[in-house]
Amino acid sequence: MSGDTVLGVIGGSGLYDIDGLENTRWVEVATPFGAPSDALLTGELAGRRLVFLPRHGRGHRIPPSELNFRANIHALKQLGVTDILSVSAVGSLKEHLPPGSFVVIDQFIDRTFAREKSFFGSGLVAHVGLGHPVCGRLGDLIEEALVELDIPHQRRGTYMVMEGPQFSTVAESNLYRSWGCDVIGMTNMPEAKLAREAEMCYATVAMVTDYDCWHEGHDHVSVDAVIKVVVANAGKARSLVAALAPKVAARDGLCAQGCHTALDNAIMTAPAH
Ligand code: ADE
Repeated sequence: MSGDTVLGVIGGSGLYDIDGLENTRWVEVATPFGAPSDALLTGELAGRRLVFLPRHGRGHRIPPSELNFRANIHALKQLGVTDILSVSAVGSLKEHLPPGSFVVIDQFIDRTFAREKSFFGSGLVAHVGLGHPVCGRLGDLIEEALVELDIPHQRRGTYMVMEGPQFSTVAESNLYRSWGCDVIGMTNMPEAKLAREAEMCYATVAMVTDYDCWHEGHDHVSVDAVIKVVVANAGKARSLVAALAPKVAARDGLCAQGCHTALDNAIMTAPAH
């Protein structure tokens, strides 16, 4: 693959558009898996094409369990996206990560159970590696951008992905804490798995909005609280995209971690004769 990277941004709660994007156009994309969450916004930032997808649709209409993750990733791939920055609001499972913290995620625990998780099946069997579910190089570029912007953040962290839509019980929240998870949310799986199957670099920036329900010194999570913090931090998420775009544009060649060759040794099904 040449150095022609195209950054795709999947915006969660609070990130519904991109500052400074020029020559914009909303593009409807059809996929074999149905419709993505919304039309995709394409434009130019730092002289390079960028594609934005509001994960829950404009107006936040689609709950996590009803997101068509396969269509979303397929649509981004069709528009030439090579690198995905996924931005998500999450709850904190650690005392030292108060609301307003940013975490560059490097691991996930996927506890979702009501979602389509693979492009494969129906006669074609594939098993991609997911030991490192996030592209380390993209993660490093995100960290560089956060450092430049002076946005406090934690470089690594484990994101516990729950099905929802209800928030956790205290017993569940403490269970996830005992597993060493840093943050909890409802949206980044199977997104990360599908990005790997689609041979795209993928990384998540999690924006902490609450202490979930385990912290005795804080109110339990509520939508009001989440929205308040998301609105207060939307500017930072926007600056991050602006700072990241030229870094991804300057990135060269194949992903050293192998994101772009994830299928090379993954297909089990014998070729047809
Ligand atoms: N998104 C934001 N805060 C959350 C929480 N506490 N649990 C699950 N998803 C969230």
